[in-house]
Amino acid sequence: MRYNKKEMKIRLDYNNMMSTAVADGFTDKDFSSRLGEITNAFEAVKAGRGKNMMGWTDLPYNQTEVIEDILATAKYVRKNFEYFVVLGIGGSALGPIAAFQAICHLHYNDLPKRKRKGPKFYVEDNVDPERMAALLDVIDVEKTMFNVITKSGSTSETMTQYLIINDILTSKLGDKAKDHIIATTSKATGNLIKIAQKEGYKTFYIPDGVGGRFSELCPVGLFPAAVNGIDIKALIGGAKYMDEQCQSANVKKNPALMAGTLQYMAMQKGKNISVMMPYADGLKFIADWYCQLWGESLGKNKNLDGTACNKGQTPVKALGVTDQHSQVQLYAEGPFDKVITFIGVDEYRSEVKIANGCEEFPNVNFLCGHTMNELIQAERKATEYAITKAGKMNHTIMLPQLNEFTLGQLLMFFMLKTAYTGALLGIDTFNQPGVEEGKNATYALLGRPGYDEKRAELANAPQKQNKYII
Ligand code: PA5
Repeated sequence: MRYNKKEMKIRLDYNNMMSTAVADGFTDKDFSSRLGEITNAFEAVKAGRGKNMMGWTDLPYNQTEVIEDILATAKYVRKNFEYFVVLGIGGSALGPIAAFQAICHLHYNDLPKRKRKGPKFYVEDNVDPERMAALLDVIDVEKTMFNVITKSGSTSETMTQYLIINDILTSKLGDKAKDHIIATTSKATGNLIKIAQKEGYKTFYIPDGVGGRFSELCPVGLFPAAVNGIDIKALIGGAKYMDEQCQSANVKKNPALMAGTLQYMAMQKGKNISVMMPYADGLKFIADWYCQLWGESLGKNKNLDGTACNKGQTPVKALGVTDQHSQVQLYAEGPFDKVITFIGVDEYRSEVKIANGCEEFPNVNFLCGHTMNELIQAERKATEYAITKAGKMNHTIMLPQLNEFTLGQLLMFFMLKTAYTGALLGIDTFNQPGVEEGKNATYALLGRPGYDEKRAELANAPQKQNKYII
């Protein structure tokens, strides 16, 4: 589908980050006094485009061929399978979940097949045995296509799931088990690619310069999206449109650079928490995806020059209006340590009128004649007002509608914003040694060959004392 760019342009409203709205907000001078830093960050991201771990910046431009392969394979899966299951974790799961929630029907799996037009969709991103058992209770593996996604090809959680599923498939289908598994992984490294070649699985490749949390716009996200009937060309088109909007070194003309700069300046004022609060159930899991992107990219203990630091901003997910009745009290009256990002939608995909009734109760009846659409907009604006009145920094990203084109813009916006913020912080945005440490300790604990040293390290770590367990 083609979208009108101007009508579907997402907007960043940062009024409530400025001193005109909140006491410790910024002035225009704050940008001019940091011009050197901002320009350097812009240039660093520009120079890095397409290189090393910034291959994701090329994704809106270099996937014509793979998109055709994805669409053809997705068509086959939609036609021939009742269930489609992603096995993956972290960046290999959060993007597919977020896009599914954003674009597909909010009760997709409960729809009848004729309305869904594709298989039921599940993403298994944990190794809780109860969850695996529960999945096996609701799917028929003989009617299921599994998409095993792991960039490294060795993540314990994903490979555990693969081993279990492959064993079940093989016991039921013998040689035909291979027709129920599609691998999405690195072409050059890891075990999954070797397994896929040996078993003859259909395979999609994750480009070298695309890390897990930056991978939603490559086959990691595009293939599940296409199986779920999402228009991936429009998604990519939206990402490209946002990328085009972020080509200027002028912070006031580059939305992602502006958003990153605002967060960076806020961190310097002790705002160490970034709350992501979309006002749309469809965007609920965009907040989860953002939490990984922001947390894993910016939480670092080394500067680029190797000197020690402890940087980052803790991401928190919230949902409007649900969390107004849970978190907003803290946001309004608690410490001045947060920046709140609201995401609003101008035009929701459904309109629901509030029915007449309760005439004798004016405090209820005032709602009648309005729509739920008006109510959610009023609540978003009211919460923004209350938070601003309390002096807390916040800004709003407005989507004209929630569709593939605006989602593509949003994903690219957050990825670019993260890259700019990492450059401003002077850290390596694209590594994750803290995650690797945990992965390696797991390998050691479960006896993976080559991890003897790590096993010894763990054995020598301070042991827990019973006196502190009650
Ligand atoms: O962003 C990252 O690199 C990580 O969070 C990974 O996505 C996560 O650890 C899963 O890794 P893999 O895709 O290699 O299984």
